[in-house]
Amino acid sequence: MLFKKILVAYDGSEQAKRAIDYAADMANTCGGFLVVLTVVPRVTIPVFPEEGYGAAPLTNAQDFGDYQEKMRAMYQMSQTEVMKDIAENFPKLKAEAILLEGRPSATIVEQAEKNGVDLIVMGSRGIGGITGWILGSTSRRVVESCTKPVLVIK
Ligand SMILES: Nc1ncnc2c1ncn2[C@@H]1O[C@H](COP(=O)(O)OP(=O)(O)O)[C@@H](O)[C@H]1O
Ligand SMILES: [Mg+2]
Repeated sequence: MLFKKILVAYDGSEQAKRAIDYAADMANTCGGFLVVLTVVPRVTIPVFPEEGYGAAPLTNAQDFGDYQEKMRAMYQMSQTEVMKDIAENFPKLKAEAILLEGRPSATIVEQAEKNGVDLIVMGSRGIGGITGWILGSTSRRVVESCTKPVLVIK
């Protein structure tokens, strides 16, 4: 079978949900394995005041740590929910959830290579909203930099 192991990138957006529907259906039909990857973006602290947040006293760094925790909890919750949906809709499908922190596009490419997946499925847009591009920056970067086949759901 062509697509034995399918990685779907999930950021909790409606479009990523649609990507999940396609990926789960394909993996299920192929008797394959589904990897659901969610990447928690890193909260960054600019070091130089002219770049923005760096103007805040360094003691506020603690707030960024808290914010990172909250981000992680939100992404984690959304992933857990979607894993439940998958298990309900495709009870026989073998699926694994991976939650990592980092830069979404780079992490998706890295994990696809590392896990030896045969196909990456993602949405054309995510939670970043409409910026005038047909593809969001994550999907564009993955398509441009990954050697694996990529299916972008519109
Ligand atoms: N943090 C993330 N973790 C996992 N997948 C992601 C993440 N961000 C984006 N994706 C994947 O990339 C697709 C396109 O999102 P993106 O390119 O970020 O668009 P936007 O600029 O609208 O946010 C999403 O539908 C999802 O499949
Ligand atoms: Mg995005």
